[in-house]
Amino acid sequence: MEATIEVSGLRKKFGPHLALNGMTFTVEPGQVTGFVGPNGAGKSTTMRVVLGLDAADEGTALVGGQPYASLRHPLSHVGALLDAAALQPSRSARNHLLWLAHSQGLTARRVDAVIEQAGLESVVRRKAGGFSLGMRQRLGIAAAMLGDPPVLMMDEPFNGMDPEGIVWMRGFLRSLAGQGRAVLVSSHLMSELQDTADHLVVVGRGKVIADTSVRELLSAASRDRITVRTTTRSEAMTVLAHAGATVAATGRDTLTISGLPADRVVALLGESAVPFSEVSAHHASLEEAYMELTKDEVEFRAAAAEDTTEEAAR
Ligand SMILES: Nc1ncnc2c1ncn2[C@@H]1O[C@H](COP(=O)(O)OP(=O)(O)OP(=O)(O)O)[C@@H](O)[C@H]1O
Ligand SMILES: [Mg+2]
Repeated sequence: MEATIEVSGLRKKFGPHLALNGMTFTVEPGQVTGFVGPNGAGKSTTMRVVLGLDAADEGTALVGGQPYASLRHPLSHVGALLDAAALQPSRSARNHLLWLAHSQGLTARRVDAVIEQAGLESVVRRKAGGFSLGMRQRLGIAAAMLGDPPVLMMDEPFNGMDPEGIVWMRGFLRSLAGQGRAVLVSSHLMSELQDTADHLVVVGRGKVIADTSVRELLSAASRDRITVRTTTRSEAMTVLAHAGATVAATGRDTLTISGLPADRVVALLGESAVPFSEVSAHHASLEEAYMELTKDEVEFRAAAAEDTTEEAAR
């Protein structure tokens, strides 16, 4: 089976409220795809529709080319962590997993394998009801891995994890993608997805705002931001401006340059014998790149909020 999630033209209303408004994207194998966007954007609803837990009014959602409802052994096709609180509190973690495995015709050996994968060995005989949120997330991940599925979907798996857990989770997600699986992970914190996600699907108001590789996004955001430190500031400004760069003096001996790559800046200063002590390129964080990408949407939101206030005042 191909490892993909394909979501196409999903629309879903809750009463008068449009939760999904043409949601369309594909999650490719061998990659971690970050699923991000503001509260209420439709991330969890999309995941629930993929799993057949919510019915869409329009559109299709396929896992490995098939609707979820048509999968004979769904846990072997897609593993999902949607709500870490959803477990039987009085059962031990191991029994919870055994019960799940049994329902899908999977073995106890598989249960022990996922316990080890999720790092739960030391706590697995305890009652799941006493688990911290981070431990519940790990238990949910163990459950998602039971059927060794080619597709994984996790809704805010970093939620409630301590720093060590976050580092573990990032490595774990990377390794799943490295094994060729398709991995969709929602998160609110770009910092969690930095160095983890290969691809980003950014959503707002029930549809996709941007669907981009993280590498492209970061290089676009980092472009044009070069700092030069030089004691001969005005000479440097002249040379670089002449070459077509936009140059701003941003300190007594620093210039900020856009419109030229760093190697070009170094070459130009060298050719003109302008001394400099430093040329550095700014590397945008995923957070900065995301803010840049969604700033129009945010302005749109702010404007819409004003409209509502006016309406309320009327
Ligand atoms: N069962 C429901 N009944 C009514 N409205 C719902 C229901 N589930 C979701 N919604 C609404 O649908 C919209 C999308 O919600 P959803 O939970 O999918 O967003 P989200 O992107 O997961 O947000 P968050 O980042 O807060 O988790 C929201 O406006 C939400 O209030
Ligand atoms: Mg959600």
